[in-house]
Amino acid sequence: VSSGAARLPVAVLGAAGRMGERLCALIGESADLTLAGALVRPGSALAGRPLGAQEGPVATDRIEAALAAARVAIDFTPAGATLAHARACSEAGVALLVGTTGLGAAEQAAIEVAARCIPVLCAANTSLGVHVLAELVRRAAELLPADFDIEILDIHHRAKRDAPSGTAYLLGEAAAAGRGVTHDGAAVTGRTGLAGPREAGSIGYAALRGGDVVGEHSVYFAGTGERLTLSHAATDRTVFAAGALRAARFLARQGPGLYTMADVIRG
Ligand SMILES: NC(=O)c1ccc[n+]([C@@H]2O[C@H](COP(=O)([O-])OP(=O)(O)OC[C@H]3O[C@@H](n4cnc5c(N)ncnc54)[C@H](OP(=O)(O)O)[C@@H]3O)[C@@H](O)[C@H]2O)c1
Repeated sequence: VSSGAARLPVAVLGAAGRMGERLCALIGESADLTLAGALVRPGSALAGRPLGAQEGPVATDRIEAALAAARVAIDFTPAGATLAHARACSEAGVALLVGTTGLGAAEQAAIEVAARCIPVLCAANTSLGVHVLAELVRRAAELLPADFDIEILDIHHRAKRDAPSGTAYLLGEAAAAGRGVTHDGAAVTGRTGLAGPREAGSIGYAALRGGDVVGEHSVYFAGTGERLTLSHAATDRTVFAAGALRAARFLARQGPGLYTMADVIRG
């Protein structure tokens, strides 16, 4: 970007959160982006105040105000807020990257409706490594016979709200695609008590929560006499924030539609 080129104005939704803070910091350090809006929880004491030491807009708890000067919004709020954010972005003509996980059917539907009017990308994981892992998982599921049991483990920090993680599901979807089965028909979550023997062909999930673990995922292909494990560990949230900003730059160049991180990586 030349020094005279206009910076891309980006709004961060959930600006005071773990991811929001990293995003605002990276935008502040970048040469081609500018923080155009910073949304905090409605009623938050942070509304009306500058965020940290950042230059740029004061935090607001009104989505319309956060979007007013933005071309792309990056949403890392808890799942309940995403529906309203998708509608507001659609009305304001602002492209939307949803990094929030644990979305329900109503939110997914709102995202699909919004994608008719604006560019939208919904990614449970914005790191590069996890998307390479998903591709390897898909290939392993394709190559290994169906009697290799597929089990997915995710480990996250103690404050994470949803389980299994959105990334665990992303990996399960990749495994199901490789095996040529429907994910929702194969997925088994939350085994407890007398759960009985493992159902053949199922894709099992387990989640550990504790401490400050940023995010670790392992996919096990457990056969008889051998086991293949594919893993990814994120050690710094900056990888998710940097990937989200790369996706925001990508969205700013697209027309309305629903995009994936694979589209971003392909460029
Ligand atoms: N896609 C990825 O690569 C990726 C990576 C990491 C995390 N995530 C996901 O991103 C989401 C956020 O994670 P996090 O660790 O950053 O969580 P977090 O630290 O709890 O941050 C969420 C922030 O959103 C604020 N908030 C709540 N409701 C809001 C609303 N209606 N409008 C605006 N802001 C609102 C919260 O404020 P209060 O604290 O005041 O309630 C908090 O500051 C989770 O779903 C997580 O799973 C995705």
